[in-house]
Amino acid sequence: MQRVLIAPSILAADFSRLADEVCQVEEAGADWIHCDIMDGHFVDNISFGPGIVATVRKLTNLPLDVHLMIQHADHYLPRFIDAGANSITIHVEPEAKHNVGKTLQQIRDAGCHAGLTLNPATPFALLEPFLHQLDLLLIMTVHPGFGGQSFRAEQMEKLRQAYDWKTKNNPNLDLEVDGGINPETAKIAIENGANVIVAGTSIFKSKDYAAEIRALRGE
Ligand code: DX5
Ligand code: ZN
Repeated sequence: MQRVLIAPSILAADFSRLADEVCQVEEAGADWIHCDIMDGHFVDNISFGPGIVATVRKLTNLPLDVHLMIQHADHYLPRFIDAGANSITIHVEPEAKHNVGKTLQQIRDAGCHAGLTLNPATPFALLEPFLHQLDLLLIMTVHPGFGGQSFRAEQMEKLRQAYDWKTKNNPNLDLEVDGGINPETAKIAIENGANVIVAGTSIFKSKDYAAEIRALRGE
């Protein structure tokens, strides 16, 4: 089985102590840092942009996993690439208003890992034309926009479809889950094929980041 990677989402960090928070999750055993970018259009919340990603880049050598919940990702992409993103995940829904195939190619051409994701209401079939272009596939387990929501177990069916495709076509594909993940729901996601676990609230609201990260990994 692939090693399970833990990607704390800094959306749930204390921004008044962002440098400490990033260093602490790194010391606690995080594998990637997940950056949730929200534009107030594709999702009904505004988080932060490339400036903060560039700041985080200076704080850690861990890979930066940038999740773009924005419209016109193709337009903003160069700014996140310059900010030091290592993987960039875009949304497949038409409301994201970009050419998905072209944007994925732009991400790869810049030397970043290309990721694609879908909202809980979006059928898996929408991803299918792009699966061969991906390094990472993210199955959202909440409706994107806000941290602290409950895990939607019914999304595990899509994760199983993704795992089936991965097994047959690209064993190196990373399968990531995001939203409502705690040690209990991480176990369910891992059993269904996830190898990258995003967690905001569960890590940053815990007292012991290292213990929480170990628990998320199932150790
Ligand atoms: C949802 C974001 C998630 C969120 C996860 O809009 O994409 O990454 O921050 O947060 P928790 O772990 O608090 O559900
Ligand atoms: Zn995310």
